[in-house]
Amino acid sequence: PARKLLLLPGDGIGPEAMAEVRKLIAAMDSHLQAGFDVEYGLVGGAAYDAHGQAISEEDMGKALDADAVLFGAVGGPKWDGVPYEVRPEAGLLRLRKDLGLFANLRPAICYPALAASSSLKPELVEGLDILILRELTGGVYFGEPKTITDLGNGQKRAVDTQVYDTYEIERIARAAFELARTRSGRVCSMEKRNVMKSGVLWHEVVAQTHRDGYTDVQLDHMLADAGGMQLVRNPKQFDVIVTDNLFGDMLSDVAAMLTGSLGMLPSASLGAPDEQTGKRRALYEPVHGSAPDIAGQGIANPLAMIASFAMCLRYSFNMIAEADRLEAAIAAVLDQGYRTRDIMSAGMTEVGTATMGDAVVQK
Ligand code: NAI
Ligand code: MG
Repeated sequence: PARKLLLLPGDGIGPEAMAEVRKLIAAMDSHLQAGFDVEYGLVGGAAYDAHGQAISEEDMGKALDADAVLFGAVGGPKWDGVPYEVRPEAGLLRLRKDLGLFANLRPAICYPALAASSSLKPELVEGLDILILRELTGGVYFGEPKTITDLGNGQKRAVDTQVYDTYEIERIARAAFELARTRSGRVCSMEKRNVMKSGVLWHEVVAQTHRDGYTDVQLDHMLADAGGMQLVRNPKQFDVIVTDNLFGDMLSDVAAMLTGSLGMLPSASLGAPDEQTGKRRALYEPVHGSAPDIAGQGIANPLAMIASFAMCLRYSFNMIAEADRLEAAIAAVLDQGYRTRDIMSAGMTEVGTATMGDAVVQK
């Protein structure tokens, strides 16, 4: 059966980075008979310009039909004034919602060649390979009530509500244990059960899910604030970290900075496994945005987008050997001294987007 991919390059450097993934897809088709069936669509400002929506119904249909969606980036000053419902980000939010993507995977990998230029001690981050799994569709960002009330005495009151149901915690816990089985077999769950009821339930449901079918995986629990400290003090102690939407947002940004540039960071968002096939809906995207400040110059770092494609091979198509080879190719071109401007350091060779992509394809 064909492997159905939908490519949504988006805006700014999105299409520039995606062009390098297209080279990889073409190379894998011709040299490895990978059999990708590739569709294209518009998202964000590009979709707004074409049909006044952040993503068209037709392209949403293609996304629902695909095995995996590759997403570039959306947004830019050109669309600052467009109506709120059709702003570029609305396209990404619609995709996350309609595809049911509740699990956000943010790896923090430190390539050996970049450890020396890390802002942290090289020995702390060299060889780092951890995965933060963030719950993406629940918690305090979505819970009701969510209000600002005028108290009438010159004071206002802001209310956000953290809500988690058992099923939401259980499905992200399962995803964490399943991912850990493909890695070193360890999960650390982070919450604040000392001060939050949602933390109490989180802890209880993760522990129960573990007992119910994942006792082969090692499970630890940590309070999220202590977890933040440990992430900076000794990040290599972790393998998979699973946490809620709010803590995951912050902890994944902290972990990102362990590894250096925004231009290096991939991500994946997964849905629930299909009852018949076991396949999860999935969207893969770099962590960075559309970088309007460098768009159109051919200098963007395509490695975050390429590494996102490696995650796609691994998690959507079970092409483990191919994913490993692609990640090794990224490490190898960095070892050879290839650097885009954002990761440039003394003695290295500065190259543009296309040269970096070609080097990875060549490897
Ligand atoms: P950004 O990630 O686009 O850029 C931040 C800085 O990092 C810029 O100086 C940029 O040049 C640099 N940078 C980012 N990716 C790079 C790459 N691959 N290679 C080299 N340098 C890179 O974030 P910013 O500037 O806050 O937002 C710009 C636009 O992107 C906004 O419209 C924002 O809403 C949108 N955005 C979209 C996201 C998405 O599509 N998922 C995520 C974040 C922002
Ligand atoms: Mg964030």
